[in-house]
Amino acid sequence: MLRPVKYNDFMVKGNIFAAPLAGYSNFPTRMLYQEHGADLTFTEMISARGIVHEDEKTLALLYTDKNEKNKAVQIFDDDKYILSEACEYIQTKTPYKIININAGCSVKKILRANKGGALLKDPRKLNDILHYISKNIRIHLTLKIRSGWDENDLNYRRIGKIASDNNCKMIIFHPRTVKQVFSGKANWDQVYDLKKKVPIPVIGNGDIFTVQEAYDRLKHPVDGIMVGRGAIGNPWIFENIKKFIKGERYTEPDPKEKIRGMFLHLQKMVQFFGERKGIIIFRCQMAQYIKSFKDSAGIRKKIQICDKFSEIEKILAEYK
Ligand SMILES: Cc1cc2nc3c(=O)[nH]c(=O)nc-3n(C[C@H](O)[C@H](O)[C@H](O)COP(=O)(O)O)c2cc1C
Repeated sequence: MLRPVKYNDFMVKGNIFAAPLAGYSNFPTRMLYQEHGADLTFTEMISARGIVHEDEKTLALLYTDKNEKNKAVQIFDDDKYILSEACEYIQTKTPYKIININAGCSVKKILRANKGGALLKDPRKLNDILHYISKNIRIHLTLKIRSGWDENDLNYRRIGKIASDNNCKMIIFHPRTVKQVFSGKANWDQVYDLKKKVPIPVIGNGDIFTVQEAYDRLKHPVDGIMVGRGAIGNPWIFENIKKFIKGERYTEPDPKEKIRGMFLHLQKMVQFFGERKGIIIFRCQMAQYIKSFKDSAGIRKKIQICDKFSEIEKILAEYK
């Protein structure tokens, strides 16, 4: 179940990935996930246009360093020239060796611009994009998709073929339609089905919140899994999935451990972003760390107005 993900010259050392999450997948959080066992981390979706225009805020999202070992950068747009130029920037000016094209985002603003999941509505255009990009790319190209635009157009098989025909080395598949956004359940039968249809590795993604769910998915034909929401406030999930699969003892973090882990995470955020910005960006994650606590709403309310590390420490001291 636990194994490298390989295809020709493409290799990732393990098959438990951390998903790209806009607003969450910043450098310190990705590093934390790797320390907890994630085998591959993704930047959040980054505008290819912003990269091409060398927009300062966009380029900041590309930050990485040599300690971040197994990493991929995810970009989005619907213009093959822009995407190709962004790929050129990444392969010449950054250390990333894996590029992931977002063809699954279901956020309205992105869809209105015909980007993200909207690319699934027009397979010929997606084919043209991937064909054009793959001509000039020297690092690994990968694709992230959903099942299709809506339930009347489940075209993941066709999209999977387009990806493998155009030299993509891996597909990440979240088996919901774009229209579904996050409603209903991820249909993993579609993941196993795609795995049988394409030669390139297929990584399944969607609704993995427990080690048991990870284990159950990996019993089926699939090359790996990717965890998104299940890792927010729970970086331990990666190592626990691995321990569970190997039959080793593992423990779910108790409140004390959660507080300890949260502080370590917050420290990393503050070190990287500075105190105020680090805390502000971290707020949404903090809420997830403490969500199972007895008075989580009360604690959250108090913490949400803090912008000093010492204040947060004081509030949480009683839980230590
Ligand atoms: C807050 C949030 C931000 C997300 N941002 C991205 C993103 O930047 N790029 C992307 O491909 N998917 C993004 N996704 C989708 C996730 O990567 C993943 O496909 C989805 O959440 C299903 O996996 P999960 O059930 O494990 O969370 C986002 C999801 C959430 C909840």
